[in-house]
Amino acid sequence: MAIDCMIKTPSCMSSLKEELKEDQQRSLVFDASVLQHETNIPQQFIWPDNEKPNSKKSKDLDVPLIDLEGFLSGRSSSTNEASRLVEKQRAQRKAGESCGYASSFTGRFSSKLPWKETLSFRFSAEKNSPDIVKDYFENTMGKEFVRLGKVYQEYCNAMSRLSLGIMELLGLSLGVNRSHFKEFFEENNSIMRLNYYPRCQKPDLTLGTGPHCDPTSLTILHQDNVGGLEVFVDNEWRSIAPNSSAFVVNIGDTFMALSNGRYKSCLHRAVVNNKTPRKSLAFFLCPKKDKVVSPPNELVDENNPRVYPDFTWATFLEFTQKHYRADMNTLQAFSNWVEQKTSTT
Ligand code: OGA
Ligand code: NI
Repeated sequence: MAIDCMIKTPSCMSSLKEELKEDQQRSLVFDASVLQHETNIPQQFIWPDNEKPNSKKSKDLDVPLIDLEGFLSGRSSSTNEASRLVEKQRAQRKAGESCGYASSFTGRFSSKLPWKETLSFRFSAEKNSPDIVKDYFENTMGKEFVRLGKVYQEYCNAMSRLSLGIMELLGLSLGVNRSHFKEFFEENNSIMRLNYYPRCQKPDLTLGTGPHCDPTSLTILHQDNVGGLEVFVDNEWRSIAPNSSAFVVNIGDTFMALSNGRYKSCLHRAVVNNKTPRKSLAFFLCPKKDKVVSPPNELVDENNPRVYPDFTWATFLEFTQKHYRADMNTLQAFSNWVEQKTSTT
């Protein structure tokens, strides 16, 4: 399986989201004032024909909506139901596995610029960094951003807790010790990203975010009601309709490695439009930097040999920042790189 499901927003998060929305509108000013009116799209933003979005809107993908309220509050019937839905997902996604191996997606990335602005910052679930997000806002943007920083700190805390719940569910669905993945991510060092996609006068020429798999472990995405997220399933792009009371959850490369390839990371992109700017919030769950990413014994045997070498998230992150721009082949390229390095040293 790759993506993906939507999970209902626990009710306790609604007011937080409202506050966040208000704060985002009030305090985050992105300078897209020129580009949004430009009919002459700068060359660097024009994607090659084979990657340009289709001018027809992609068909909606019917993703299962999983209500985690019962699971998170410990009811066992809900737990079974939720883990069954996740499994159903896995079966469903197998058909689309061929995605991700077409070489038409690799190329010279320096020229294919995404039509977006982003703000990314780090989150840590470690006991000694309870204010890391708040402090970042305060230190880099000033005192007047403390309130916004607090909102994002709380948002990240909630996403981290939610991720641990999902990790339990994934452990259950794979038949490994229920707490295995949850414990692995208990002290996560995650990344939060705010995406802003301005309007574009020629939306068919460019992409908000090019085709890629997230190199991280699990992504919890909240998109506003504009729409634009698409996933590659059964050889075609399908759109994920916005749902304001749900998050989109997808598997990233690091969890694919951690599950010894059982779960597939999801190839996705974001298209832009000429009517409404779009915002999304992505929480990328990542292991603590020095944790070794290695699948549990239950997932490795003669029939299922190791697919990827051991690595740390710190090394993988560095690879995506210094050596490789994330696309659909990031994990494979990284594995080859690690194996080459270990064979020459
Ligand atoms: C990302 C991403 C999609 C979106 O930030 O990695 O894929 O809908 N975003 O904003
Ligand atoms: Ni992504």
